[in-house]
Amino acid sequence: MSARETPLSNLQARDLDSVLHPYSPLHKLREMGPTIMGQGKGVFIYDTQGNEYIEGMAGLWCTGLGFGNEEMIEAADRQMRSLPYYHQFGGKGTEPAIELAEKLKEISPVPMSHVFYTSSGSEANDTQIKLAWYYNNALGRPKKKKIISRIKAYHGVTLMAASLTGLPANHMDFDLPFDGILHTDCPHHYRFGESGESEAEFVARLAKSLEEMIEREGGETIAAMIAEPVMGAGGVIVPPSGYFAAIQPILKEHDILLIDDEVINGFGRTGQWWGAQSHGMKPDTISAAKQLTSAYAPLGAVMIPGFMMEALESQSAKIGTFGHGYTYGGHPLGCALGVKAIEIYQRMDIPAKVRAITPLFEKRLAALADHPLVGEVRNSGLMAGVELVADKATKRSFDPKMGVGAQCAVFVQEHGAVLRAIGDTIAICPPMIIEPDELEALIDRLVLALDDTESWVGKADLRAA
Ligand SMILES: Cc1ncc(COP(=O)(O)O)c(C=O)c1O
Repeated sequence: MSARETPLSNLQARDLDSVLHPYSPLHKLREMGPTIMGQGKGVFIYDTQGNEYIEGMAGLWCTGLGFGNEEMIEAADRQMRSLPYYHQFGGKGTEPAIELAEKLKEISPVPMSHVFYTSSGSEANDTQIKLAWYYNNALGRPKKKKIISRIKAYHGVTLMAASLTGLPANHMDFDLPFDGILHTDCPHHYRFGESGESEAEFVARLAKSLEEMIEREGGETIAAMIAEPVMGAGGVIVPPSGYFAAIQPILKEHDILLIDDEVINGFGRTGQWWGAQSHGMKPDTISAAKQLTSAYAPLGAVMIPGFMMEALESQSAKIGTFGHGYTYGGHPLGCALGVKAIEIYQRMDIPAKVRAITPLFEKRLAALADHPLVGEVRNSGLMAGVELVADKATKRSFDPKMGVGAQCAVFVQEHGAVLRAIGDTIAICPPMIIEPDELEALIDRLVLALDDTESWVGKADLRAA
């Protein structure tokens, strides 16, 4: 890790205890102290002590263009000077919002009619559920309201998005999930495949289980299923081939909408514009955010097809208005940056760039699989999960209380990189502009951290089950 000569900031130690940090062990934070980031350039990020790190997670799976992109900075400056704020309420609008909606429709994997803007991925998914309910009310189907999600899904943290999420920490003591949310199986063959079961048999079993759930609940009570093509924050879970092809006809048969959560997958991450295209998904509606603006400003979007728009219009005519919208949804800064980001992605042909670097990524990942701590490595394009286990042969996990993954992420940081532990899976999701030598350096640092983790586990003699 190289250090700059002078610290970047003169914050006092006491100032560091004023932010309530999301997704952090609050009980340990005082002792660990936060890492305060000060500057970024390309794939590198610098903390306020001047330490340099390779940003291996694109922030939170979002800064696809890395840091300090001059074109993006200029686009932001231009928009702030011409119109720093306006909204979409009451039929008003802004040019960047229209331009971005047109761009999104142009690159959408399926024909879309309209775009509704939010400030985040969670708001986009909340909106999806409200739209599905409103749509079914418009069609005179007031009972068709339940939503299917999946175990280990991640759809955000607002009340509905957290209910859709299939991770215990998002529910426990938040009194969630809401009623009417059904969690079906997680398509992770390594963890949930039965002994001797092939991937094809696993897919058939999951499809059957979904069908049984729908028949048990009654298809006439289920509005939609929401799914990420590749599950990100649940541990980078890549579905077996044929998974979506197997479940989609079942949903169709029961007239259940398929909501595609592209918040992490979208804009080239998997080697195609959309995760849906990489994994055979044919969605009815789409949620996007994060790389939509390369995270240079907050923005989310919901894309809906014509048949849904018609129903929303007719229901609005009955009620007198469409009563949903966020003050910052479609903020002109976010929309101008979305337009610029997509323009850059198109010029660079970002999906092709991701496809070009994926073989190197996969070669380095395959070598990690030989490490004594690594149970499985999995990836889709430039997004991977490295799952650490106590016993490779039996796939036995470490006791979660040991915090092996979290400790590995600490070692990664000590070696000058940022990666994220999801339980004992180390997630890798670098900016999509990463060059081969930078990617090699990132994986080299992870290898050092894995070795440190192995001796930490051994020293503490914590491996005994
Ligand atoms: C697939 C997915 N959906 C939704 C969200 C929530 O987005 P936000 O944090 O912008 O609310 C996330 C965040 O990581 C995500 O990964």
